Amino acid sequence: MSSIVIKTPEQIEGIRKSAHLAAETLKYLEQFVVPGMKTIDIDKKCEEFVRDHGAIPATKGYRGYKHSCCISPNDVICHGVPNDTIIEHGDIVNIDVTTILNGFYGDTCKMYYAGEVSDYAKRLVETTKECLHVGMKQCFPGNRLNNIGYHIAQFAQKQGYSVVYEFCGHGVGLKFHEAPDVAHIADANTGPILKPGMIFTIEPMINAGKARAKVDRKDGWTARTIDGKLSAQFEHTILITEDGHEALTDVYHDF
Ligand code: MF3
Ligand code: CO
Ligand code: CO
Repeated sequence: MSSIVIKTPEQIEGIRKSAHLAAETLKYLEQFVVPGMKTIDIDKKCEEFVRDHGAIPATKGYRGYKHSCCISPNDVICHGVPNDTIIEHGDIVNIDVTTILNGFYGDTCKMYYAGEVSDYAKRLVETTKECLHVGMKQCFPGNRLNNIGYHIAQFAQKQGYSVVYEFCGHGVGLKFHEAPDVAHIADANTGPILKPGMIFTIEPMINAGKARAKVDRKDGWTARTIDGKLSAQFEHTILITEDGHEALTDVYHDF
């Protein structure tokens, strides 16, 4: 088991810049998440933007993944492979972008509404956003890591939703996926103690129906809900500071 890296001030500055670019990319992509767009074309816009800013999309070539982001509509939980799927009116869509800038990684995702979306879908998306914030409130030195997942799950379940447990947040910054795993459903007051200089993601995936995921057998990546019901996700890259945390990907304060 590898231990949790405490980042140096120089590393933190590098990771912050990469995280800012990942956040900017999500903002830039907003204009393309509209009915009629193919997800593969959004992926191309993503790659262009990231490269134009001197960075590399971290997912490209990662464990055989071929695209510059993950695009996960409706019942897709995460790792949606960009393809000929056309965005439709009323869809909820997640885009997850990870950048490598000067060797440093920033990782963030958010939900988009394509046209007018049902209240049923909106409530799931807004609750998932709140789950991320409930988790972030637990990010301060001295706290136990698993209090993040404990409080996220308490909150989500109270709203009648289930928490995906087959995918986790993760340490990030010098590599794409570092220690620790950040569970979104966990026992209170367990796990490592948070320390200034730790950087990890919180990225809750919340389902309207059952928690379980199944991975598409054809593309080997796209993870869907087993019951076809909706799923939503938001992700920030979080730095633990002396007095709390800094959400390194929270540039526009829109989630
Ligand atoms: N960005 C995702 C995360 O938040 C990971 C995507 S890996 C991929 O951890 F290979 F599916 F792109
Ligand atoms: Co992540
Ligand atoms: Co991500």
